[in-house]
Amino acid sequence: MTTPTVALVGASGHGMWHRQQIAELQDAGRLELAALVDVRPVEGAPDGVATFTDHAEMLRAVRPDAVVICTPPHTHLPIASDALRAGADVLLEKPPVLSLDEHRALAGVVAQTGRACQIGFQALGSAALAELVGAIVDGKLGAITGIATVASWQREDAYYQRSPWAGRRTLNGRPALDGALANPLAHSWMQCLAIMDGDPPVAVELERYRCRDIEVDDTAAMRITLASGRHIVVAVTLCGEDKIEGEVIVYGTAGRAVLEYPTDRLKLPGDADFREVSGRTSLLENLLDHRANGTPLIVPLARTEPFTAVLDVLNSAPEPTLLGGDLVVPEGVAPARTLTIQGINAALRQATERLALFSELPTRGRCARTGWT
Ligand SMILES: NC(=O)c1ccc[n+]([C@@H]2O[C@H](COP(=O)([O-])OP(=O)(O)OC[C@H]3O[C@@H](n4cnc5c(N)ncnc54)[C@H](O)[C@@H]3O)[C@@H](O)[C@H]2O)c1
Repeated sequence: MTTPTVALVGASGHGMWHRQQIAELQDAGRLELAALVDVRPVEGAPDGVATFTDHAEMLRAVRPDAVVICTPPHTHLPIASDALRAGADVLLEKPPVLSLDEHRALAGVVAQTGRACQIGFQALGSAALAELVGAIVDGKLGAITGIATVASWQREDAYYQRSPWAGRRTLNGRPALDGALANPLAHSWMQCLAIMDGDPPVAVELERYRCRDIEVDDTAAMRITLASGRHIVVAVTLCGEDKIEGEVIVYGTAGRAVLEYPTDRLKLPGDADFREVSGRTSLLENLLDHRANGTPLIVPLARTEPFTAVLDVLNSAPEPTLLGGDLVVPEGVAPARTLTIQGINAALRQATERLALFSELPTRGRCARTGWT
């Protein structure tokens, strides 16, 4: 069998990470990098690898077997559709699309072409998640009563200057949705939805805040009600105090489990502390295995439909409330300046413990719909 050819569309930004992944798989003989595409000049293309500024031209000229798409989310639907129609299998970065209408359109192209479309929620390929799901299925947590996720990160001003879509709700009249919930911290609640697979969201409550002159949330509490009546609570910020990498906490009648999803550390009922569960299946390698021998995709597009259903709610949500005054403490000088919300980490932790929104918390750090008190 010949080595599959792979092209990358969106070769800068997070595309640099994909270039590294592709290089490792090429070294292992699993693929051949055939082209890099970016509307900006591509720097550091390996010798002999063709570069393009237009993905359609690349598809015609190169006809790659697979295409990795790492462009801004509002460009995903047209580029992924073109790649699938050109006969390629696709690894499409998250968030795959920004509305259920777009999801249905892309699912239609996948069905028509019969090609594979894997979505880049890479933490779904982790052995730690698989062990957690196994423990739930084996009844080690008893009956699951709810699930929460918490992350406290920092972003400098420069993050919001990196690209035209950064911090934007819409761009050129189309959703862009570069908020904490929809973009950098999307993995946190996609993990929760995956754990609660088969129990789809039926309602979403949102409390969103921003500390900068942006159109989207940098801080949010979100409560998703599932068909069973159970809740997923998401409490996240990009203006955090001490860093919380990202935890998923599953509450059961027989105890709780905590998964630190970016680092694959797991604590099950009875564990004294976190332990590392090594092993992550690369989503690109899984896509190549799918092509070669029918190995099931880890994150087929269909698996992300509940995620996109929640994004539909974010699309029509009111603008996030602007926080300021003494509550928000700046440090450093732009573009390296950070902003920190005083008391935010305690509020995040309380929200996840109580499966509550900020406005429902009893103590300092309480966020009302009109501000933070
Ligand atoms: N899975 C993860 O952990 C993870 C992490 C970071 C970003 N992402 C996702 O990766 C995608 C890209 O994010 P980013 O932060 O790198 O964005 P970015 O804007 O920094 O970079 C995107 C790149 O795509 C290029 N581009 C834009 N439109 C294009 C087009 N039509 N054709 C070809 N190239 C085009 C840009 O010039 C830029 O080089 C987003 O979907 C984002 O959510 C995923």
